[in-house]
Amino acid sequence: MAPSPSSPKPTVLLLLLLHLCASIATLASAQAQPLASSQAKALLRVRKLLGYPPALEPLRGAPDPCALPPTPSLAVACDGGQVTALSVRGDRDPDAAWRAALPASFSSEALFTTLARLPALARLSLVGLGAWGPLPGDKLRRLQALQQLNLSSNYFYGGVPGDLARLYSLQSLVLSRNWLNGSVPSLAGLQFLEELDVSHNRLGPAFPEVGKAVVRLVLAGNNFTGKIPAGVSSLGQLQYLDVSGNRLQGWIPSSIFALPALRYINLSRNRFAGQLPATTACAEALVFVDVSANLLTGARPACMRGNSSARTVLVAGNCFADAKQQRASTYCSPGALAAVLPPPQGSGGGGQGRGKGGEIGMILAIAGAVVGGALLIALVMVVVLRRARTRHPEVSVLPKSPAAAPAKKADGWKAPARATQKIITPADKSKCRNSCA
Ligand SMILES: *[C@@H]1O[C@H](CO)[C@@H](O)[C@H](O)[C@H]1NC(C)=O
Ligand SMILES: *[C@@H]1O[C@H](CO)[C@@H](O)[C@H](O)[C@H]1NC(C)=O
Ligand SMILES: *[C@@H]1O[C@H](CO)[C@@H](O)[C@H](O)[C@H]1NC(C)=O
Ligand SMILES: *[C@@H]1O[C@H](CO)[C@@H](O)[C@H](O)[C@H]1NC(C)=O
Ligand SMILES: *[C@@H]1O[C@H](CO)[C@@H](O)[C@H](O)[C@H]1NC(C)=O
Repeated sequence: MAPSPSSPKPTVLLLLLLHLCASIATLASAQAQPLASSQAKALLRVRKLLGYPPALEPLRGAPDPCALPPTPSLAVACDGGQVTALSVRGDRDPDAAWRAALPASFSSEALFTTLARLPALARLSLVGLGAWGPLPGDKLRRLQALQQLNLSSNYFYGGVPGDLARLYSLQSLVLSRNWLNGSVPSLAGLQFLEELDVSHNRLGPAFPEVGKAVVRLVLAGNNFTGKIPAGVSSLGQLQYLDVSGNRLQGWIPSSIFALPALRYINLSRNRFAGQLPATTACAEALVFVDVSANLLTGARPACMRGNSSARTVLVAGNCFADAKQQRASTYCSPGALAAVLPPPQGSGGGGQGRGKGGEIGMILAIAGAVVGGALLIALVMVVVLRRARTRHPEVSVLPKSPAAAPAKKADGWKAPARATQKIITPADKSKCRNSCA
C-alpha cells in the first residue's frame, strides 16, 4: 500500500531523508559525479595486482571508493568521476633478504599499466607493499597530472626512468628505500619540483640535477661520488639537504652553508676533504649542521665551532685541528691529495668551488709533494748553474727564476705555492734539459 499523497507526514519525512542522504553524500565525497566504472575497475585490479594487501581491503564491496574515509593505510580522492589521489601504505617493510617482496607472479609493468588508466591521478603513493621490478617509464609518463609520487619502501630496482623528467607537474618525487641503481636523469626541467628523496638506493655516480624550486633534497645512503656541483649553491629555496652516507669527495662549496633558506644540512659519512674557509658563513635559519666522518682539515669556521641554543653542529671523525673526537691528520691527507690534485691537463675545468681558503688547504695537503718538487728544481738549477759557470765564467748573476728562489728556503708557505705550477711533469724536465744543454 502506497502512502496517501494527502497525508503530509510521510512526505516531509521522505524529503528530510532525501536531504540527509544528499548532505551525507556531499560531505563524504565532495562531488556529485559518481566514479567512472572503468576507474573503479582499475582500482580493484590494482588491489589484485598487489596481492590483496590488507590496506586495500576496504575497497572490497565498497559502493563508492571515493567515499571511503581516509586512513593512514588507504586514502582515495576523486574529482569529476575520476581518481585524483591514491595512497596505499602496506606493512611490508623491505629488508635485504627480500622477505617482504610480493611473489614471482607480481609484475610492476602490469601494475603501472593499470595505474595509467587513472590519468587524473595527481597524488600517488604506494609505500611498503613489497612491489618489485623495474619502473616502467613509458607507463609512468602517461600520468601527466602527477604532482606527488611516493614509491618509498618497496623493492623496485633498475634505473630511474628518464620519463619521470617529463612529468612536468611533479612537486614531490620520493623513491627512497628501494634497490634503484644507475644515474638519476636530469630533473632540471621540473620547475615545480620541491622535493626529491631518492635516499637508500644504490644510485650514482653523478650528483642529480634538480630545478631551482627544490626545497628538500635527500640523497642519503647511495653511491654518489664526485663533487657537489656548484649549481647547488644557487638553490635559493633549499631548506633541507641530506647527502650523508655516499662517497662524495672534493671541496664542499662553502657558500652552501649560507643558502638563505637552509635549515638542515647533513654531509656526514662522505669523503669531503680540505679546509672550510675561515670566512664560511652559516644561514640564519640553519639549526643542524652535520659534517662528521669526512676528511676535513684545518680550523673550523666560526659558525661551526660549537653548539648553541639555536644550532647543533656535529664535526666528529674528521681531522679538524681545533675539535675533539678527531682523527690523526695522516688519515685525512691521502684523501685530500686524491680529491684536490688538478686534472692532468692543468687548471682547465676543475676549478669550480675552489676558493682562496681552498687553495691554502690544497697547499697544506700537498706540501710534501711541493717540497720534494722544489728540491728537484733546486737540483736541476744547481746543475744548470754549474754548466753555465763552466761555459761563461763571467756570468755570476743569473736572472732569478720564481721557482728557483723558494727552493733555497723550502719552509715558506708562499714560495712552494708558486713552485706547484712549475714542477712535476717529466716533460718539463726534458724540455729544460734540451734548452739548457
Ligand atoms: C612517502 O612515504 C614515506 C613512507 O611512508 C613517508 O615517510 C613520506 O612522508 C612520504 N612522502 C610524501 C611526500 O608523501
Ligand atoms: C644495476 O644493477 C643491475 C643488476 O644488479 C646491473 O645488471 C646493472 O648493470 C646495474 N646498472 C648500473 C648502471 O649500475
Ligand atoms: C657504485 O658505483 C661504482 C662506480 O662509480 C660502481 O663500480 C659500483 O658497482 C657501484 N656500487 C653499487 C653497490 O652499485
Ligand atoms: C646525518 O645522517 C646520518 C646518517 O647518514 C645520521 O646518522 C645522522 O643522525 C644525521 N645527522 C643529523 C644531524 O641529523
Ligand atoms: C653538539 O652536541 C652534540 C649532542 O647534541 C654533540 O654530540 C656534539 O659533539 C656537540 N658539538 C660540538 C661541536 O660541541
